[in-house]
Amino acid sequence: MTSKIGPANGKIVIAPSILSADLWNLAKEVQTVDEAGADWLHVDVMDGHFVPNLSFGPATVKSLSARTDLPLDVHLMVQYPLRFIEAFAKAGADMLTVHIEAQDDVEEALLLIKKLGVKTGLSIKPDTDPLRIQPFLSILDLILVMTVQPGFGGQSFLPHSPAHISAVRSQIKAAKRPIWLEVDGGINAQTAAEAAHAGADAFVAGNAIFAAAQPKRALQDIRKAATI
Ligand code: DX5
Ligand code: ZN
Repeated sequence: MTSKIGPANGKIVIAPSILSADLWNLAKEVQTVDEAGADWLHVDVMDGHFVPNLSFGPATVKSLSARTDLPLDVHLMVQYPLRFIEAFAKAGADMLTVHIEAQDDVEEALLLIKKLGVKTGLSIKPDTDPLRIQPFLSILDLILVMTVQPGFGGQSFLPHSPAHISAVRSQIKAAKRPIWLEVDGGINAQTAAEAAHAGADAFVAGNAIFAAAQPKRALQDIRKAATI
């Protein structure tokens, strides 16, 4: 399997989250964000244990990968990622992000993702010390800083998020490796600018795009705000 996602390259990435899409019209929703210039598609996977909600599984990723060229950025909010990594890789995930707070061994999960030819991501929840990512920097392609408590779309960006983002950016700089710094939760044009100033280069947005009266315009406004 080869990933459609390359190393961080100084450009801005916008990744609409289909959690907020109208699932009846999923094909049309994906086409809309594709035409608006989305870079990746963010797929939130929830298991009802790690977070109090359920969402998508490998079958959704498989259908998407057969029908869209957009790279699939899959966020595993699951307690036991090792059970699911292979299925998501086979289904066509281009990035697989696991949580540092999950129950499985983080390094084992990341090495399995890498072995399967998929880009490796590690996420931290809003209350997790950003310094905990340090031991994994040499194998990571992306760090996902949660800017809301994971589980639901449509929440507000937590005010202490910029401090977390800056702390992660400093570690990426020190590691001297091309690692994406993604933010997820409550991202709109205003908070995207704040996150960008703190050092983010990949921006997930669900509600701000899919619930907007003009989703294409909303995506473009986020990109403009994030380009600093
Ligand atoms: C939250 C998910 C997010 C969510 C973001 O648990 O990880 O990806 O879809 O949605 P918004 O942009 O509406 O906060
Ligand atoms: Zn997410």
